[in-house]
Order: sequence, then structure tokens, then C-alpha cells
Amino acid sequence: MELRPDIPKLVELDETGSTNDHACQLALHGAKEGTVVWAHRQIAGKGRQGNTWTSFEGNLYMSLILCPGRPVQEIGQLSFVAALALVETIRSFLPAQVDIGLKWPNDLLLNGKKAAGILLETEAAAGDSPQAVIIGIGVNIKAAPEGANSLASLGVETTSAALLEKLYKNLMSLYRLWLDTGFDPIRKEWLRYAHNIGNMISVRLPRETFTAKFIGIAHDGALQVEMPDGMRRDIASGEVFAL
Ligand code: BTN
Repeated sequence: MELRPDIPKLVELDETGSTNDHACQLALHGAKEGTVVWAHRQIAGKGRQGNTWTSFEGNLYMSLILCPGRPVQEIGQLSFVAALALVETIRSFLPAQVDIGLKWPNDLLLNGKKAAGILLETEAAAGDSPQAVIIGIGVNIKAAPEGANSLASLGVETTSAALLEKLYKNLMSLYRLWLDTGFDPIRKEWLRYAHNIGNMISVRLPRETFTAKFIGIAHDGALQVEMPDGMRRDIASGEVFAL
């Protein structure tokens, strides 16, 4: 039998539509900070920008409820907190030669191919700050869609329970660091793993697509690029692609 992760407020489900939706409902009914929803199967997994998250059995599907009480403009920084927690967790399972990268805003790449994703959602604002933030994370452990990577395909044998236990600990400790010291230490550490930094990338926004050089991450988490005319531009949300 699979080990049960050592997490104080854990809701374990055989199957749900989306762990994020389940966690949102729990948050609405007063679930406490630190509650984790973990499902073995998702039948309506959600990705960013309205995409579907393909949910093969044996992969990790989890959502963490946080109540940071911080202004809504700072909440997006938590997806960088989650990305770093993912790096720290997954690195501890991987052979040293595997390259780990983070693609803005929050994809984890192994040898250049996506292996995990993060979906941040907020629940009902109480004044200037959301009542709860849901950090949803999916990790391809056993299987991945075409073109993506999984831990198994890199020779790593582990379970969603083992991964979840470490991920939870890393998430909570980086979350506390963020609460205590702000975004800058997280931003700097994230940049160490930034995929394609210094290179030309393609940026796709709802009404335009352009090519620019990826130069950094701003203090609010925006992507910083240098346009062909030398002007700097900050992108708050969009998709980026390698050229
Ligand atoms: C993305 O890269 O597009 C984000 C993917 C996030 C997927 C996870 S799986 C657990 C949680 N529940 C969901 O429905 N989505 C997130």
C-alpha cells in the first residue's frame, strides 16, 4: 500500500474533477491555511489559460490552500514560490545530469520539456486581499502527454505520496520565507533556473505576438524583455516560446 504523506490537514481523494475546484469549495466553507487536497485521479484537470490538464493515473495532482492576507497585486508572486518549491523537491529525486529549468511564468522543464505545471487561483476577496489562494500543482511522474516529460522517462521511480510530502514541506517553508522577507529572495533564486534567459523568445499576448530578448523578471513577477529597438517592456501575463 502507498504511504500516506505526513501532512497535518490532508484531504485525500480517489477521484475528483479538479483538485483546485475541490480546494476552492473547501476554502469557501472555511478550510484552514495549509489544507492540501490530493487526488489520485482528476477527470477535469485544469491548466492555465483555460487549457485542460491531462491527468494520467500515477501522476501528482494537488492543491494547497493559503490565506496570506496580502494585497491582490502580490498574490501572483506565489506561483514563483511554488515553482521554486517544485525545483527543490524534484531535484532531490533526479540524477544530477538532468537539466532543470523554469519557464515563465511557472512551468517546470526537465531537459527542456515540461514536466510540471502550476495553476494559481484566488477565492473571494475580503477587502484588498483574497480570502484564500489555491496553489494547484500537477507533476508528470509516471506518464506525460506527447512532447512533455515525466520522471519515469528519466529513470526516476517514485510515488505521488513521496513527492507530495516533500513538496508540501518545501512549499510551506518557502511560503514563510516569502511572508517574512518579501519577493526579492524568491525572484533571485527563480532566475538561477530561468529557461532561455538572455535569449530571443517569442511572446504571445491576446492581441499580438512578437520576438524579443528575455532579460529578467520584474519586482512584481512580470517578464522583462528587450524589444528589437532597445526599449524594455514588462509583460504581466502571456505565453512565451523558444525560437
Ligand atoms: C499549467 O501548466 O497549465 C497548469 C497546470 C496545473 C495542473 C494542476 S493538477 C492539480 C491542480 N488541479 C487542476 O485542475 N489543475 C492543477
